[in-house]
Amino acid sequence: MRAAESTPQTLLVALGVVLFCSVMVSTTVELLRPVQLAYKQIDRNRVVVKVTGLASAGEELSDREIVDRFRELEVRAVDLADGRFTDAVDPLTYDQRAAVENPELSVAIESTQDIAGLGRRARYALVYVLSDGQSVRRITLPVHGRGMWSTIYGYVTLDGDMTTVADIMFFEHGETPGIGDQIESPAWRASWLGKLIYDDNGKPAIAAAPASAAGPAERHRVDAIAGATLTVNGAINAVLYWLGEDGFGPFLKQLRPTHAQAAHLPRE
Ligand SMILES: Cc1cc2nc3c(=O)[nH]c(=O)nc-3n(C[C@H](O)[C@H](O)[C@H](O)COP(=O)(O)O)c2cc1C
Repeated sequence: MRAAESTPQTLLVALGVVLFCSVMVSTTVELLRPVQLAYKQIDRNRVVVKVTGLASAGEELSDREIVDRFRELEVRAVDLADGRFTDAVDPLTYDQRAAVENPELSVAIESTQDIAGLGRRARYALVYVLSDGQSVRRITLPVHGRGMWSTIYGYVTLDGDMTTVADIMFFEHGETPGIGDQIESPAWRASWLGKLIYDDNGKPAIAAAPASAAGPAERHRVDAIAGATLTVNGAINAVLYWLGEDGFGPFLKQLRPTHAQAAHLPRE
């Protein structure tokens, strides 16, 4: 009789404990979310600092140092339609990936243009400018495109002539370890350095080929990676798309110095 009476009480206590625990867990998750976002942002900024050349090769930087060096860069949003800086979004909070899901902040990419296999792109993109106050020394641009298994994300840094690759880093993808992930290797990264993105007609012209092969002119050639052609082509197409007419092309055209002039920042 007593056992029968205590069963509902036991169930009630158990239910209370379960409810209490789930409230505690979800509250903790909510409280930690800003901290997680801050760390994610620092990780992203760490890549930007490296690819912009604000950290030397192999230099290990603390989170504090990353924050300090990142401050040397000017982060701006560009309206890709006209290639001008825009205040339509706040560069400090703008999330370009999330914008693709928002019909007001994104546009469909015409299939003939969509060499990176994206379907849609954000209207606005962030750029990271390293300048000496007047002229642009380097500019870092985010790029992404479909690889074999996944979307590949990277940054390309151009010198002040707006065509020479100062550095490139592909920092996020789901390609196969040991095969497609060689796009992160220092050797492949090095094969991009000093290469010219644009040909004499102003068209993006990077192509992969083995060093010995007849094919693209050396100044536009990056290494092929045997057995990983699909990932390599995905990474290259991401660069060709984002630095082309539908991406940063119009913006870079305005920034490109004429003759011996240094690149100047375009007005809004
Ligand atoms: C399990 C498995 C995983 C693979 N992962 C990749 C990959 O991540 N990236 C890639 O380009 N090719 C990958 N490949 C190879 C591709 O299927 C394809 O053969 C290769 O990209 C062609 O490159 P190649 O012309 O240089 O041989 C993978 C193949 C297998 C069987």
